[in-house]
Amino acid sequence: MTSAILPDGLYQRLRERLEPFGQEHVLRWWSELDEVQRAELAAEVERCDWAELDRLFRGGQNATCATVLDWQQVQPPKLLRLANTFEAWELEQKARAVGEEALRNGQVAVALVAGGHGSRLGHEGPKGTFPIGPIIQRSLFQLHAEKVLALSRRYRAPLPWYIMTSPDNDAPTRRFFAEHNYFGLEPQQVTFFTQGTMPALDKGTGRVLMRSKWQLALSPNGHGGFIPAIRAAGIIRDWQRRGVRWVFYFQVDNPLVRVADPLFLGQHISHGADVSVKVVPRQHAEEKVGLIVYYRGQHYLVEYSEIPAEYQYRKNPAGGFWLDAGNTGIHIFSVAFLERVSRPETRLPYHRVIKKVAYINEWGECVEPQLPNAVKWELFIFDALPLADRVLVVQTDRAEEFAPLKNAVGEDSPETVRAALIRLYARWLEQAGFQVPRDAKGQVPVSIEISPLVALDAGDLRGRVEEIDEINGQLLLDRVPNETEAESP
Ligand code: UD1
Repeated sequence: MTSAILPDGLYQRLRERLEPFGQEHVLRWWSELDEVQRAELAAEVERCDWAELDRLFRGGQNATCATVLDWQQVQPPKLLRLANTFEAWELEQKARAVGEEALRNGQVAVALVAGGHGSRLGHEGPKGTFPIGPIIQRSLFQLHAEKVLALSRRYRAPLPWYIMTSPDNDAPTRRFFAEHNYFGLEPQQVTFFTQGTMPALDKGTGRVLMRSKWQLALSPNGHGGFIPAIRAAGIIRDWQRRGVRWVFYFQVDNPLVRVADPLFLGQHISHGADVSVKVVPRQHAEEKVGLIVYYRGQHYLVEYSEIPAEYQYRKNPAGGFWLDAGNTGIHIFSVAFLERVSRPETRLPYHRVIKKVAYINEWGECVEPQLPNAVKWELFIFDALPLADRVLVVQTDRAEEFAPLKNAVGEDSPETVRAALIRLYARWLEQAGFQVPRDAKGQVPVSIEISPLVALDAGDLRGRVEEIDEINGQLLLDRVPNETEAESP
């Protein structure tokens, strides 16, 4: 610490907060900072729970964390599968009617978590702005927004949409929506709220990393930050006031998601579940999906990085994976449950994450590390599962609902996700009675893009679209032919 620092009251107070935890280097540049920078740094230091950070760095874990399971007692969860008998099909029809009724009555809200950095994709800006549409490059946000709008029209009830951002991507996310006129939604239908942050520490020394001379290297506190954030932002009260009873929750990176799926809603409601989760069978043993397991009467999610290899590869007698409930990140939560688990006395456990985090070194130079250098802690939404009395696990068809965009190349990349969208659209068109070109291997050799405002499923295409024309290897259904917005249902 330089001796040029005047021992002003604020400086002393901050130093006293930091010193017991060996973090006083945070004030190294105090004498160089102007008043605004000092105020910013002081606010960050005061906001941070240094004792908790210290405990986490020293290995403190919360006991509900899936990493402490006794694997001898772990079981696959009971799954509600897609109907394959007439009786099951009839039950699905009843459940869908229940979900549709909830949508018509305005008892459903949609929540999107979009605060992640998306560092693996390497896209500048919020991940939701990534252009994923196979022809006219609809962004992820636009696809999701058009689904919310189409559902609001279909059920004649504006579906309220809550979008969680992080401090870093909040302004660009709001700007993107404003620049695109909220993709046709009423601005008051969309509520943005910001999740909390956690400082990143040097993984060797445990000293907090600095992003600048007056800023800690803060990063979003994980999608589990959704739970404290909805309470802090007054969103739970908002739901209670509006009569919203169920929240459809999803991740920004999955353009196949069936937003507010009436069948899934109806299944959740009919089972009286606190939390429901959609799962898909794994593609291969090393796929980077979390797995839902059943353990001593409760459901847990075990992350791909935390599952012992023996169980990761284990097969059942039929040849499938023994643990095969791959997490899609699609949930329904009952508002009463969210109200309960967001109370300050219920705390989700923190998970340790090792990442590359840029920082300034002791000479004030910016360092972009080549290897992971930092440890940070994140809350995961699925740690709410063991807190629930009733959990419903619904297995679905990956081709219909799950193609996450994670990486720049290879698995879960723009190329594979666009191909999944094209396959899905081709299936809808064929189910609706249209001819789609197929090559000798059964692949679709043309690009297809369908706006959710034209169709949310194959059923919407029947009767609404009279004919389709292939133009230069492209099939684009961007507007319903002969139908104006005012006439749409
Ligand atoms: C996640 C799940 C995994 C699941 C997979 C499905 C974890 C640890 N694992 O993997 O079980 O099978 O999705 O695709 O989450 N987010 C925030 N704030 C944050 C961090 C993330 O809002 O602080 C959002 C992201 O914007 C994204 C979602 O959470 O919408 C998922 O985050 P991501 O980091 O992509 O999760 P994965 O590790 O890929």
